[in-house]
Amino acid sequence: MKELQTGFPKGFLWGGATAANQIEGAYNEGGKGMSTSDYAAYKDPYATGKVDNFTFNVTSKELKEYQENEANYLFPKRWGIDFYHRYKEDIALFAEMGFKTFRISISWARIFPTGLETEPNEEGLAFYDKVFDECAKYGIEPLVTMSHYELPITLTEKYNGWASRELIPLFEKYARVLFNRYQSKVKYWITFNEMNMNLNSLYTGAGILEDLIDPEKKLEVTYQASHHQFLASALAVKAAKEIMPDAQIGCMINQIESYALTTKPEDQLQALKSNQLNMFYPDVQARGEYPSYMARYFSDNDINIVMEEEDAAILAEGTVDFVAISYYMSHVTEAREDAAKLAGSFDSPIKNEYLELSQWDWPIDPIGLRISLMKLYDRYELPLFVCENGLGAKDELTEDGRIHDDYRIDYIKKHVEQMKEAIKDGVDLMGYTTWGCIDLISCGTSQMSKRYGFIYVDQDDEGNGSLARYRKDSFEWYKEVIASNGENL
Ligand code: BG6
Repeated sequence: MKELQTGFPKGFLWGGATAANQIEGAYNEGGKGMSTSDYAAYKDPYATGKVDNFTFNVTSKELKEYQENEANYLFPKRWGIDFYHRYKEDIALFAEMGFKTFRISISWARIFPTGLETEPNEEGLAFYDKVFDECAKYGIEPLVTMSHYELPITLTEKYNGWASRELIPLFEKYARVLFNRYQSKVKYWITFNEMNMNLNSLYTGAGILEDLIDPEKKLEVTYQASHHQFLASALAVKAAKEIMPDAQIGCMINQIESYALTTKPEDQLQALKSNQLNMFYPDVQARGEYPSYMARYFSDNDINIVMEEEDAAILAEGTVDFVAISYYMSHVTEAREDAAKLAGSFDSPIKNEYLELSQWDWPIDPIGLRISLMKLYDRYELPLFVCENGLGAKDELTEDGRIHDDYRIDYIKKHVEQMKEAIKDGVDLMGYTTWGCIDLISCGTSQMSKRYGFIYVDQDDEGNGSLARYRKDSFEWYKEVIASNGENL
């Protein structure tokens, strides 16, 4: 039996997380091609009165309109927080907090501007070299996501994104370039960010223009696209093992634990099924095959996945070393007609009366994180990584240049406490990177005002501001958390 672990293990990877399209900016510099995230137009959910007005989906008509009349729209992910030019200052601030790790993603379109080139773009590769070298100066281990909610727009235009099998070799080519180039600089990798969010947005997750597919076949296309990503991910894992045997490569989901609304057995069964649909993603990537429960789900929902003969072997050979999750909330479910559709999505219609909501109506549930970690560890017995967690909130910059974000401290503290409990429960946890350790552009709403950081960035939703960086109260607090390896909360 494993010994009781009462605190965070030695070498625990504390840090913060970001994504290229939400921080870099410089969307048309350094030879970068346009990517799907460059066409996420800003719509203020509060102005329209709809908090769930995600900029997640783009139709073919919208894409054409954005391309022809660019000047009429704002695309905040094109400017990010100018990390491309300010990475030295930002990494120095992370180092000041004592970060052991920094999660970033690589923009595929910086390396292969259209995805189709045979040779990579040297300027793009050189940019990430500089970022990794800067991290190394401070002993910060990069944790790199290879695909975080973006792909070269050409692949959407030409193939309708991951709906096509053609993307698999293109991704493998990209992966091999990254591994060959950065093998001595990057040890920790994640292939795809939150693959289960394909269920939520085909454009953001898989670069698919939904209006080009048969609405009756949406679920089938979603799972077909996921199948292509599974294969691409497995081939990348295999390539990583060949090129850099010491590297550790993980899969990732947005972990949303579903609770049953009542003790009624029908509701309990529905919660179990909802959780299966979420875990389906790591089930395939950690176990190397489709779980048996999917056969019935596919049959009940008239889903036929096209699989080639070699696919089973590819999946079996490409299993991951660790399972990473983002964790923001839990859900409540009950036996109802559309429950399957809602599983794993943000659109939980049922309120949990025991939980408070964030300003963006996300239920706050630290114990749900502990439950998730315990369940995932029981299931895979692989190391886990919480690579995103945090509170999106409006912050106020006071006259003395401070931000008193005690609400953020409270949120993170409660989640860290529950991680500590999960470790005591036997969970093998590698690290914790809070989401948006520096304020960045929101993925879901393209807003700047939904802030997650320990570092405030002076910029508004329209992109006005000095871009100056300010330490929030949470900055000093997190620094102490890291220095004490999670003891002083
Ligand atoms: C995760 C994504 O789902 O949630 C991030 O991986 C995203 O990219 C984060 O930013 C928070 O979501 P949002 O919509 O508040 O930015």
